[in-house]
Amino acid sequence: MSGQAERILITADQIQERIRELASEIERDYPDGPLYLVSVLKGAFMFVADLARAITHPAVRIEFMAISTYGHLKTSSGQVKVTRDLDVNIEGHDVLIVEDIIDSGVTLSYLARLLEQRKPRSLAIATLLDKPERRVQPVEVKYVGFQIPDEFVVGYGLDYDERFRNLRSVSTLAPHVYA
Ligand code: IMP
Ligand code: MG
Repeated sequence: MSGQAERILITADQIQERIRELASEIERDYPDGPLYLVSVLKGAFMFVADLARAITHPAVRIEFMAISTYGHLKTSSGQVKVTRDLDVNIEGHDVLIVEDIIDSGVTLSYLARLLEQRKPRSLAIATLLDKPERRVQPVEVKYVGFQIPDEFVVGYGLDYDERFRNLRSVSTLAPHVYA
């Protein structure tokens, strides 16, 4: 292996600044609370941690789900399965799904349909990153951190084969890492 593995696409400072903007929109849109932030493991763990800290009103709950999309390292296969479900009842509550990235939209359209069946008062989606060019299934997203081109990215929670999640910035991966 030679050369730099990653090239920074979005710096740590840019991420934090955008999260502050999203948090103030969310505070404005959900003044009453409680607001359930439902975060999708593992990729969204860093985003939900920073987003939750940037929201100043106290009526925020943080819940986790885990989902597996069988198959390839770099794409969703279309086979979505809940591997860890919520341990709270969201019926009648405002729910905001917090995701790391929307690519094909397969994961989130499945998850949104699943949670909608549980009759929340409202259901919306926040994603740090969005690759709109890649969409296969339509998803209505209320809060988008950054739209990015169709490139594989890592860092700030996102992995390639479980690596790079700890990076503070979002970076593109040089093809020699995964080609
Ligand atoms: P979707 O179901 O195709 O929208 O894929 C969503 C999931 O695929 C994300 O939650 C990530 O786990 C993974 N994913 C999609 N694109 C990337 C990427 O560029 N880097 C890392 N993971 C990605
Ligand atoms: Mg993920």
